[in-house]
Amino acid sequence: MRHPLVMGNWKLNGNKAMVSDLIKGLDNALAGVEGVDVAIAPPVMYLDLAQQLLGKAQNKIVLGAQNVDVNASGAFTGDISPEMLKDFGATHIIIGHSERREYHKESDEFVAQKFAFLKEQGLTPVLCIGESEAQNEAGETVEVCARQLDAVIKTQGVEALLGAVIAYEPIWAIGTGKAATAEQAQEIHAAIRAHIASFSQNVAEQVVIQYGGSVKAGNAAELFAMPDIDGALVGGAALDAEGFAAIAKAAA
Ligand code: G3H
Repeated sequence: MRHPLVMGNWKLNGNKAMVSDLIKGLDNALAGVEGVDVAIAPPVMYLDLAQQLLGKAQNKIVLGAQNVDVNASGAFTGDISPEMLKDFGATHIIIGHSERREYHKESDEFVAQKFAFLKEQGLTPVLCIGESEAQNEAGETVEVCARQLDAVIKTQGVEALLGAVIAYEPIWAIGTGKAATAEQAQEIHAAIRAHIASFSQNVAEQVVIQYGGSVKAGNAAELFAMPDIDGALVGGAALDAEGFAAIAKAAA
């Protein structure tokens, strides 16, 4: 039985006061919510503060981060290693987000290297995949997702996906308010799972596949009612404690 994961990706937002308010507000709003894993990925600058606040929280909120480098240390200006993330208690690390693929020209192969490095370091990759609007309109959605997954599967073996998280995020739904319908998302999640099952049925059944793209309190329940949607990676709506907690409750 897969356990849903609702993760907030705060992207490039926040300051000390906001991190503090949001974590405390979320902790209050999550009282009594069980049956779902909840995680947050603040900007890396605030991991220290977030770790301290989560240490005092009543509810279990997993700490994550939004990126990682492929190097452990050395002359790599501006980069962050898995060891540094671990040092601040971050365990779930988002990689391959479409914003990094687009603005930082991260390739499938580079993302796969990050995946391997995180696994090697005992961290949980949250691997984002998903198609652009043009690819969607051209009917290439499943092919694009399969290619992005294959960069990991064909270099590290399908078992590498065990314990990892996949986040299916159609790029046209990110930050647009135009979420995929529950039926559209389910169709693609099922196809992604079938692709993984073509390598291993066991891995396909176990791997958590989140949906991401304009998830909010109002559409979360219908998305999570779908058999192949195991929670969500939430952007904008994760910046509001009540709203994000409502999404988590919908997955519980
Ligand atoms: O990582 C999160 C996604 O990019 C979704 O963002 O909820 O603002 O559409 P959004």
